[in-house]
Amino acid sequence: MLIATTAQMKELDRAAIEEWKIPSTELMERAAEGVAQAVLKELKERPGKSAASVFCGTGNNGGDGIAAARLLARSGMQVRAFLVGSYEKMTEDAKEMTRRLSDAGVNLEQWRPDAELYQFVRRSQVIVDALFGVGLSRPIQDPALTALIERINRSEALVVSADIASGVEADTGRILGTAVRADRTITFTMPKIGHFAGDGKLCTGRLQVWDIGIPSELVRQGTYLTQSIDADYVRGVLPRRKPDGHKGTFGKAYLLAGSVGYTGAPVLAARAAARTGCGLVTLGVPESIYAIAAGKCEEPMPYPLPDTKGQFSKKALQGVLERASGSDAVLIGPGVGRASEAAWLMRTLLDQLGVPVVLDADGINALEGHIDVLDRRKGKVTVLTPHDGEFARIGGDLSSGDRVDAAREFARRHGCYLVLKGHATVVVSPAGTALINTTGNSGMAKGGSGDVLAGMLVSLLAQGAGPMAAAGAAVWLHGRAGDLAAQALTEYAMTPQDMIGRIPAAFQSIRI
Ligand code: ACO
Repeated sequence: MLIATTAQMKELDRAAIEEWKIPSTELMERAAEGVAQAVLKELKERPGKSAASVFCGTGNNGGDGIAAARLLARSGMQVRAFLVGSYEKMTEDAKEMTRRLSDAGVNLEQWRPDAELYQFVRRSQVIVDALFGVGLSRPIQDPALTALIERINRSEALVVSADIASGVEADTGRILGTAVRADRTITFTMPKIGHFAGDGKLCTGRLQVWDIGIPSELVRQGTYLTQSIDADYVRGVLPRRKPDGHKGTFGKAYLLAGSVGYTGAPVLAARAAARTGCGLVTLGVPESIYAIAAGKCEEPMPYPLPDTKGQFSKKALQGVLERASGSDAVLIGPGVGRASEAAWLMRTLLDQLGVPVVLDADGINALEGHIDVLDRRKGKVTVLTPHDGEFARIGGDLSSGDRVDAAREFARRHGCYLVLKGHATVVVSPAGTALINTTGNSGMAKGGSGDVLAGMLVSLLAQGAGPMAAAGAAVWLHGRAGDLAAQALTEYAMTPQDMIGRIPAAFQSIRI
């Protein structure tokens, strides 16, 4: 799904109102209809529940809430709508919705921390959060507001947020002060980064995009640099398989991985690569662990390379170049270790290889203090797959809390593609386009998961997918395989090996 920025959403609203002459109150009514319908649909699944507390801010998000309160009251629910802020500060549209609400027999009440109001909120089955939408512009600091949000978060009611959970910054997913944790969010026209990225993802609950009647011509005019990765995206970018293809057609992946102490990483990466569709997987490992790797590889082809004390030595260079330069994509780094000769080897390969390279784990660590090596690859395809620690080690700056922007900034500066792994993995291109993943779970936060992802990614690159497509499809399929493993085995018990076993089901789930 394409994702809009706050500025783009405001511009869409403006153009719809001023150029297409759609009254702003009509947009608000339609937004309210989305919220009300979502609430009523949920209640159908919970019969007999009928009280709702609707919390409204003074901006237009509050107006959406006030209009939704009227629609809910009309449906027969017992509804109380609370204004959090002063009437004087309300927008004209929100005031108009207040008049319509009172015409429907419900008064907008000033919220105050009073026992009787708390009692009503406590016995509400639904809480509608319309405190702030995309207009949140600073941290929530007011103690009364903070206390209210904490109360909402403690409540057992179904919490439905209008547009975005209040407190989540729409363009980043950062929490500004404190934030509502919604069970459901009804967003309007297009989703925002905050629904998918950072802590915003945890506050969003189930997301529904609701059409409020902004003309599709206007929506189509925008240039959207960010999108979420879903099954449709993956289906659209996966390299098609030629019915008459042979193993050469489907790409050769070369993997340089492993060391004494890290014998599992090369095997996980190589198996994942083979499971993801490329024609041939060659695995270079230090000769000290060759026998172990060979014993665990059937489809991938391991071969030994010179090592020193269990890690690649400089003497491995020629042997790697001979095979890697003839492949379609190369993965460097899983479990390689941090000895100086191994790090030198990986940097030298980056300088000498022209084919697309995925740099993972110790391959990334080898760039610490040597980022110029990455800069010299500008114009060639290099995909880095760091977690936060590795990202920081090579100069990535996550201090702002805006992961998408931090990744974009790094990719632009160094001319590389970046897969910033985490709770909502972000993929960015040097041109600034970004993808945010929507699959995955905490069961994947285990040693070996990254090796599986790196293997899947190099496999898709070898098959001819572009770097963004390969990275986007790999992270989604990897997360999907993880979700399927968690369903079958629990997030506690699943292992990266179980994820490899579910790569086939992950492919099946997108119905190619
Ligand atoms: N603490 C206290 N108050 C704050 C804080 C904070 N941390 N952050 C922001 N505010 C206040 C500000 O005073 C701000 O008002 P200001 O612009 O006067 O400074 C207000 O909260 C903004 O709140 P929002 O309701 O989030 O912002 P806005 O009024 O821009 O509405 C919108 C957002 C358009 C409702 C969007 O979230 C939405 O739901 N869109 C759905 C479609 C819709 O209803 N569109 C038509 C509306 S009419 C129109 O757009 C002109």
